[in-house]
Amino acid sequence: MLNLESVGMERGLLYETVVTTRNEDGTPNAAPMGVICKNENEVVLYLHQGSQTVMNVKREEKFLVNITKDPMVFVESTLGNPSQESFEHFDNGYYIKGTDAFLVVEVLRMRDVEREDQFGVSTTTVINAKVQEIVKKKDHVEPLNRAIYGVIEALVYLTRMEMVSGDMEKLYRHRMREISRIVNKVGGLEHKRAMKRISDAFSKYE
Ligand SMILES: Cc1cc2nc3c(=O)[nH]c(=O)nc-3n(C[C@H](O)[C@H](O)[C@H](O)COP(=O)(O)O)c2cc1C
Repeated sequence: MLNLESVGMERGLLYETVVTTRNEDGTPNAAPMGVICKNENEVVLYLHQGSQTVMNVKREEKFLVNITKDPMVFVESTLGNPSQESFEHFDNGYYIKGTDAFLVVEVLRMRDVEREDQFGVSTTTVINAKVQEIVKKKDHVEPLNRAIYGVIEALVYLTRMEMVSGDMEKLYRHRMREISRIVNKVGGLEHKRAMKRISDAFSKYE
């Protein structure tokens, strides 16, 4: 059955994935992208202007979402592109060899929005896409969500607060605010509840 739960994706959470698209000349492109699980067969992506991915998605209206935790795949697809041999054909598109699973998705709606965030005003294309196929390559698939790492990092900072002072203390306070922002953006209810407890405990250092 077509259900994102089969690859461990929960409604409302944002996962770090690697999106593979087709360039105009037919060659593959890969880039890390956040994918929000909207419901059991729909995802939402926020694609910033300027990437090859956004151009390809707008033109092809179809792409693949690779679920992987391979660090080199993330690095290579951020700094450039993995080598041609790292891709495997699927239908008209490509997935990344060695991926734990991939989703074949088709754009339902896309709209350009002006967004203002910490980096200033920019145009973002919001993509709603329907999952058409889920291909599992491994028995155990766990999509990458940053919230648990944030919670652990925040706890480490919290337990070090008694040991630091001056600039380091300031840096930890700053990091704590940033981690809280991320956990609340990408996490689920339990992550947010956990982060709230940490922030409450941390408030004595603010
Ligand atoms: C973990 C991670 C998540 C990312 N998520 C997004 C995202 O959701 N939207 C986006 O526009 N860029 C995102 N980026 C940045 C793009 O991956 C980056 O701009 C990339 O170079 C674009 O490659 P391309 O031009 O081949 O598409 C992310 C980067 C990383 C490392």
